[in-house]
Amino acid sequence: MNHLLSIRDLRREDVLSLFRLTATLKARQKSGDRTAPLAGKSIALIFEKQSLRTRVTFEVGMTQLGGAAIYLPAQEIGLGERESIPDVARNLSRWVDLIAARTLAHATVATLAAHATVPVINALSDLEHPCQALADFFTLWERGVDLGRTRLAWIGDGNNVCHSLLLLAALLATPMAVATPPGYAPAPEIQAAVRALGGHLKLTTDPREAAEGADVLYTDVWVSMGQEAERATRLEAFRRYQVNERLVGLAKPGALVMHCLPARRGEEITEAVLDGPQSIVLEQSENRLHAQKAVILHLTGSGDV
Ligand code: CP
Ligand code: NVA
Repeated sequence: MNHLLSIRDLRREDVLSLFRLTATLKARQKSGDRTAPLAGKSIALIFEKQSLRTRVTFEVGMTQLGGAAIYLPAQEIGLGERESIPDVARNLSRWVDLIAARTLAHATVATLAAHATVPVINALSDLEHPCQALADFFTLWERGVDLGRTRLAWIGDGNNVCHSLLLLAALLATPMAVATPPGYAPAPEIQAAVRALGGHLKLTTDPREAAEGADVLYTDVWVSMGQEAERATRLEAFRRYQVNERLVGLAKPGALVMHCLPARRGEEITEAVLDGPQSIVLEQSENRLHAQKAVILHLTGSGDV
């Protein structure tokens, strides 16, 4: 694994080794151990879109590993305008040890990777959010959930976060049902990749059908960053896809509720469900920190900590 642009860059054994490393790093942090395996190393963080969790967890994560992070809003470096994307990648590679980039188009982060001589991490593109999916499945794994048996239901937009979860579910043999409005299903290339991995994927337009008997319900915003102009159409299209107490009532008793955050309370999820006893959204958020530290160590060849 040279870059982490997609879950497709990982094999099942990479994922399981990342989970073990994530658990070690989390326990170490909680015990006050301040080992600094990345002393003197740096990561450049390019962001074309807003962020709370991803930026903070990369910066804090790199600090906890003894290294440094430099935040580069895309408009400040003039990515693709003041300087071409390949030139930005070539220059950064002479100074830093890693690049993480949050881009509108997946092609932008892929171009960075094609021209960088250091590892590049996709920090969310229109196609995928691999760091999110790793932290989410780690969250289930550390709770002792049997990933080969647990039924995961996605309710909402079949885009970036859903794509990475689908690919990771396929790698880990987790059965997944996806309920989206017509026209918002996962991209055909992702569906094909999931099938090629032997994944159990059920697609429906009925949120109740996906939720029935599920062990885990997962949702995300109806209007992703970069889609603001489609807001009115999307609110109408997704109206029946809210994760509320009624929908949760169709899942298994005690089913877990997940969300990558940020959430639009009252749109894709109700306040009562988001803040309720079945919600594990803050565990997911916390685990972004440790999962990304594991990815960074893996990519820099420092995973034997
Ligand atoms: N879930 C996630 O990536 O959050 P941010 O957009 O705040 O980084
Ligand atoms: N689908 C959302 C995820 C944010 C973490 C977006 O792309 O805005």
